[in-house]
Amino acid sequence: MGYINIALDGPSGVGKSTIAKALAGRLGFTYIDTGAMYRTLAVYFLRCGINTDDEEAVCSVLSSCSIDTGYEDGQQQMYLNGENVTSLLRTEEVSRAASVTSQYKKVREKLLDIQRSMAAYRNAIMDGRDIGTVILPDAQLKVYVTARPEVRAKRRYDQLLMQGKLCGATLSSIEEDMRERDYRDSHRENAPLMKAEDAVLLDTSDLTEEEALEAIINMLKERKLI
Ligand code: DC
Repeated sequence: MGYINIALDGPSGVGKSTIAKALAGRLGFTYIDTGAMYRTLAVYFLRCGINTDDEEAVCSVLSSCSIDTGYEDGQQQMYLNGENVTSLLRTEEVSRAASVTSQYKKVREKLLDIQRSMAAYRNAIMDGRDIGTVILPDAQLKVYVTARPEVRAKRRYDQLLMQGKLCGATLSSIEEDMRERDYRDSHRENAPLMKAEDAVLLDTSDLTEEEALEAIINMLKERKLI
């Protein structure tokens, strides 16, 4: 039997990673967070002191960084030139740098093969922006997750607050940053955030995590994938 791939795309703060992690745990699938890969590269660019708006400068250091993905207690870990940088990925500075540099073609090309090969030999749930459209066009189930902007900003705010990583950000500054990133992610030339034609739309604004999970499990059952 072939492996099952589930593609979960959508803007930030819709609950993709929470849903994907829980679903992976329940189904015994591997969860692959592709945003973490763009964030890992972003940490490298920032460490190099590069202006992330300078595409040429960013692309010129790409060959000197290697990224690897591993799993510890089922949690995805990101390694940058051998160093585990997982705890450094969720700051607003890295979020912005990842959103800016993920526009660049060479940056995307560096991650494309890594992402495809990770999903090729396992049952996987992969979340990102272009999974259903570019990375895994043959995924057996594609879900495009959305939520109202104010709901998404509040979720991100609560997440940062809980992790003690607010760093002076307010609900409105987070909402503004989020809108800016969403605009960039969905208007870029290379692999923009977009619903694949054959993706199912799931609005999580008024759903609990459990309800969102149930909705996807029902989609899998309808398709006789589980
Ligand atoms: O999902 P995330 O917020 O961790 O992603 C960080 C940034 O990486 C996001 O602004 C857009 C980019 N990204 C992308 O371009 N393609 C993906 N498949 C995943 C993330």
